[in-house]
Amino acid sequence: MAYLWVKALHIIFVISWFAGLFYLPRIYVNLAMVPAGSEAERARLLLMARKLYRFMTVLMVPAVGFGLALWLGFGIGLHGPGNGWMHAKLSFVLVLLGFHHACKLELRAFERGEIRHSHVWYRWFNEVPTLAMFVIVPLVVAKPF
Ligand code: HEM
Repeated sequence: MAYLWVKALHIIFVISWFAGLFYLPRIYVNLAMVPAGSEAERARLLLMARKLYRFMTVLMVPAVGFGLALWLGFGIGLHGPGNGWMHAKLSFVLVLLGFHHACKLELRAFERGEIRHSHVWYRWFNEVPTLAMFVIVPLVVAKPF
């Protein structure tokens, strides 16, 4: 029974973390398009981005924590053959953690007044969590290998 509660909490925090992973790059698209001199708009978007980054970082910890509890605590996908899905899943989770960190680096650059990429670049950047989700969820639900 405990396993199902831990899995339910894992899914809840994964969904919440993804809300931030999906929306923060969208704010970056807007920040990259702010006309020069529109200080009020830039300040408003930066405040939103800062708060959202802090919030999604707090949510990432239990999302990963409950996942590790399922894997290392309950041993799901840990021992024996047929756990390739878990290794593939963890590789994409590492991509997501790298993406989360990249969001932090972009935020710090915006805070310094730098716009490091075009709005088109941030639109493609925004697709990374979507692609990862389309790989991770079938891997963990269908366990194809
Ligand atoms: C270090 C990070 C993670 C670890 C160690 C982990 C591990 C696990 C494990 C062991 C399960 C149980 C599978 C089962 O009961 O059959 C699970 C379930 C699940 N995980 Fe993760 N996970 C992690 C991150 C994620 C992420 C980032 C996603 C995002 C899409 C995700 C989505 C899911 C879903 C949807 C389930 C439920 C699958 C089902 O009920 O069939 N997990 N996870």
